[in-house]
Amino acid sequence: MFPINQFENIQTPFYYYDRQLLQQTLDVINREAAKHPGFCVHYAVKANVDPTVLDIIRQSGLGCDCVSGGEVDTCLKVGFEASKIVFAGVGKADWEINLALDADILCFNVESLPELEVISQLAAAKGRTARVAIRVNPNVDAHTHKYITTGLSENKFGISMEMLDDVLAKASAMPNIELVGLHFHIGSQLLELQPFEMLCNRINELQDKIEAKGIRLKSINVGGGLGCDYEDPDKNPIPDFASYFDCYARHLQLRPGQELHFELGRSVVCQMGSLITRVLYVKHGINKKFVILDAGMSDLIRPALYQAHHRLDNISADAASQQTDTYDVVGPICESSDCFGTDEQLPVTKRGDLFAIRSAGAYGQIMASQYNCRRIPSSLVL
Ligand code: LLP
Repeated sequence: MFPINQFENIQTPFYYYDRQLLQQTLDVINREAAKHPGFCVHYAVKANVDPTVLDIIRQSGLGCDCVSGGEVDTCLKVGFEASKIVFAGVGKADWEINLALDADILCFNVESLPELEVISQLAAAKGRTARVAIRVNPNVDAHTHKYITTGLSENKFGISMEMLDDVLAKASAMPNIELVGLHFHIGSQLLELQPFEMLCNRINELQDKIEAKGIRLKSINVGGGLGCDYEDPDKNPIPDFASYFDCYARHLQLRPGQELHFELGRSVVCQMGSLITRVLYVKHGINKKFVILDAGMSDLIRPALYQAHHRLDNISADAASQQTDTYDVVGPICESSDCFGTDEQLPVTKRGDLFAIRSAGAYGQIMASQYNCRRIPSSLVL
């Protein structure tokens, strides 16, 4: 299923993106979202900005969710309409806000009162009105890795529910601000729907309170977070979008005409990507055998940073022999955390074999670094 003959002349490590799987995933997203009036899907660009990938996503009609001026700029250059771009982030610099104001993006997701004041001032200086959604920290536990949970009150994200009334009142009174909605994002790589259901309940309570004060909101944005099956990407190549959207349709009380926005990152691009890497050495230790790859934590940092495990497949033809052995699979970088797997049961492996580190389409290439003066891996979209 990997087009290995097309990999032979490409310098490893590189990211391989499966165009067909990406398209199928987008088709499912569009089909399932269309069943629910008012559902609008944005792609969380932070997951992967490969130009070909972005273009395929743009052509499928998704909007985008950006978290920096650089991302807004990238999306505009790829041809996303400004009217489909939302911009979040706790620390938006003035130049980033100005860039987004000049482009007239759909909405700023505002994370603090000082930020709201700065957006208002910068919009006033341009004689513009900025559409904003207030990011609320709903204090919902996403039960995911602590580095990627964002909806608890001890996180830096959003405005706490206790302070929301004050911020909404101030936002409504600012002349260069149009308050359009509320924004939420509770965390990433959620494999159960229950936290999303809790989020819906929170939003319902908040909406009741806000409406009692006479404020009507055009849209609710619930962020992203739908997880992927890293252990068995072949069994679950496309996340269960039907159940995900259905959860929101059943539990969130949208008001008539109100839009519900999603910001899906990982679930759109994760499974279509693999990091393709070559075995440099098979090293025999005293109690262990190590497979040493030419890809390391500079190419894919998720295992080192989040203790994430990606499925490791030896995709070389010789590996078809059924004999297996137990290996630790590591990279070449001078850090012990540069390890992709311990005690992996793999086909007997030799120097020169190609490995696919699976489910690496999201937060892979984009988080690569030049640590150890290594090059940023290239990509191949087929
Ligand atoms: N919206 C907001 C406001 C976000 O902060 C994020 C992700 C998303 C949407 C998209 O979430 P997704 O659908 O991809 O779960 N580097 C980490 C993930 C960090 C996610 C940050 N925020 C990883 O490799 O697991």
